[in-house]
Amino acid sequence: MAKYIVKKSGPLKGEVSISGAKNAVLPLMAATLLNEQECVIRSVPHLRDVQVMKEILESLGATIEEQAPGEYCIKAENIVTTEAPYELVNKMRASFLVMGPLLGRKGVARIPLPGGCAIGARPIDLHLKGFKALGAIVTIHEEGSYAYVEAAAGPQGLIGDRIYLDFPSVGATENIIMAAVLAEGTTFIENAAEEPEIVDLANFLNKMGAKIKGAGTDTIKIEGVKSLHNVRHTVIPDRIETGTFMLAAAITRGAIHIENAVPDHVKPVIAKLRECGVRIEVGDEDIIVRGDLGPLTSTDIKTLPYPGFPTDMQSPFMAFLTVCDGKSTVIETVFENRFMHVSQLNKMGASIETAGNKASVKGNARLRGSEVMATDLRAGAAMVLAGLVAEGTTEISEIYHIERGYENFIEKFAKLGANIKRVE
Ligand code: EPZ
Repeated sequence: MAKYIVKKSGPLKGEVSISGAKNAVLPLMAATLLNEQECVIRSVPHLRDVQVMKEILESLGATIEEQAPGEYCIKAENIVTTEAPYELVNKMRASFLVMGPLLGRKGVARIPLPGGCAIGARPIDLHLKGFKALGAIVTIHEEGSYAYVEAAAGPQGLIGDRIYLDFPSVGATENIIMAAVLAEGTTFIENAAEEPEIVDLANFLNKMGAKIKGAGTDTIKIEGVKSLHNVRHTVIPDRIETGTFMLAAAITRGAIHIENAVPDHVKPVIAKLRECGVRIEVGDEDIIVRGDLGPLTSTDIKTLPYPGFPTDMQSPFMAFLTVCDGKSTVIETVFENRFMHVSQLNKMGASIETAGNKASVKGNARLRGSEVMATDLRAGAAMVLAGLVAEGTTEISEIYHIERGYENFIEKFAKLGANIKRVE
């Protein structure tokens, strides 16, 4: 199994350019299923998850060509099946995002039930609540070793309606928007997720002829349209990658110039790092982070749906808090099991206690290199950050988690002076 070998590194310094957002490009790719005409998406990051989504779209009949680095030309003129293959869906939860557009375009969809994962059960009840509200009959079938969800629209196709989301689920909001684009009449999603990735999806759909208003607020209005046309779109930069490199500058007491960023999308991380004494200068599309200008002290974190502090930044930020002066508390409110990195950080010499969804972090840890593992994508990034400041050498296994979500991760860190390499 491949591993990362991370050695104690000096302050990271230099420039890094942020890639297209994984959590934006996946719904954008799924949305192309709604369109018979050509969709060109630029700044597509080279990630395993993107490869899986590409294979799923191709299995459904779409043609996809990378016509230039990071520029995908996708055409879903002929949908040849409305069932996504288990072996692909099983690799990535976000595959479930093809259900809404397939249902909206063809009136029927059969998708294997996505499994839970390390960070939680990750149910899809709100996705299905939305499809039912649009008039679809939703059934769940056992088939051998797995179950699949089937949704079928009524004889008139999907009919717009008002849907209240009990939790502002990102995926449910995206799936329901896509199902509603070609529906008859108007749909309102209330208590919708407000993440930037939702806004990027709505912008993409509106550019191809959809009529969506309110993306980025808690109420989204979708007026059904009859057809869509070709579109060109650039994926927004990845706000979680941005936050990860901000923390890399902070934890190593370095100075990093982050380019191709959207500072507005990382306001909570900027605010919290400033509370810790990190100097941050914000430009229109770049952020300069200085962790070398004075003592770094602790702060408290509570994850919330956007615009609150992002759950995906919780584990990387906790790694940073272990070496700040003073105690911190970290409360995780979005996922029910997102503290697996705590035992890995404690193995490196951190002193973190958890009780339910609250972690108490003692600061000033003298981290030492150890053999640890990435328990999920963002926890993997947290282990790299800890490894950069731990005495000695840290070996990180299960790094496939990291490589599914961060483009050119090793290269970007090495260019900043990190002593990190990948070994088989
Ligand atoms: C998206 O997952 C992201 N993934 C996650 O990023 C991110 O952590 C999450 O949003 C929250 O911001 C993608 O965009 C591909 P949710 P998603 O539906 O859509 C509950 C990463 O590291 N819920 O907003 O699955 C659910 O159990 C990944 O890049 C229901 O109860 O997140 C969870 O507790 C990790 N019923 C909470 O909502 C539902 O039907 C948030 O889930 C759906 C969700």
